[in-house]
Amino acid sequence: MVDRLKVGVLISGSGSNLQAIMDQCDKKNINAEVVFVGSDNKEATGLLKAKNSNIPYFVVDYKKIIKNCKKTPEFKLPNDYDLNKIKASQNLFPKNSVKEKINFFLLSRARAEAELLNKMCKHQFDLLVLAGFMHKLTPYFISKVNTPGKLPKIMNIHPAILPSFPGICGYEDTFNYGCKVGGCTVHFVDFGEDTGPIIGQKVFSITPDDTIDSIKRKGLEKEWALFPECIQLYANNKLKLETYSYISGLGKQITRTVVKQQSG
Ligand code: GRF
Repeated sequence: MVDRLKVGVLISGSGSNLQAIMDQCDKKNINAEVVFVGSDNKEATGLLKAKNSNIPYFVVDYKKIIKNCKKTPEFKLPNDYDLNKIKASQNLFPKNSVKEKINFFLLSRARAEAELLNKMCKHQFDLLVLAGFMHKLTPYFISKVNTPGKLPKIMNIHPAILPSFPGICGYEDTFNYGCKVGGCTVHFVDFGEDTGPIIGQKVFSITPDDTIDSIKRKGLEKEWALFPECIQLYANNKLKLETYSYISGLGKQITRTVVKQQSG
């Protein structure tokens, strides 16, 4: 019997994806187990799902931390924190954005992320999944979680067919654009916003009588199937990364790291 993949889950809301993952683990449809659930929001109802399944859970109150950072700008940073290095590697903001804005964002998140890392490291885990976790993670956190030379260790689910409609309103943006199909994507997390290598996608049709609410329902059902499938591919060591360069249709030189599924 191969060891089960130990999965940590971060949520912000209702945790329906968390529930789908826990159900597939319980039914042994995937070779994984959820070992902790963390939230950036103490009101997240998904925490009850963890509690009811006897899974350890914790909260890092991002709202409070960010508010405190505004009140006390001279806050203490983690000892190993190098703002210039983090700023140079992040792709969340264009490099010419207002310096104070980027600095405050990165430094306040550093405080929250240090607490998150501290709580997470009490549990041994192989993979961290963001199941509706609504705060962007910075290179400080991502580099601490990833193990050099191996597959990335953080997966996110996004409510659109990436690279279209990154950001927090994927289903709304898909609908308002007038798309005739929508979908969801599971990808590894890199230093940009929803830009990491794509692991899997599922799509659904958008018909004339659909509304934003109805496509959200269609989308969530796809998410509940897609996330466990991608975790299973990771657990079974079926994923590898490949980097190559090409000229895009718009004539741009692109270097991209993609996920390839290994057969066998
Ligand atoms: C999902 O639609 C996910 O794609 C998005 O947030 C929602 C989370 O839903 N990022 P839930 O908390 O898993 O029910």
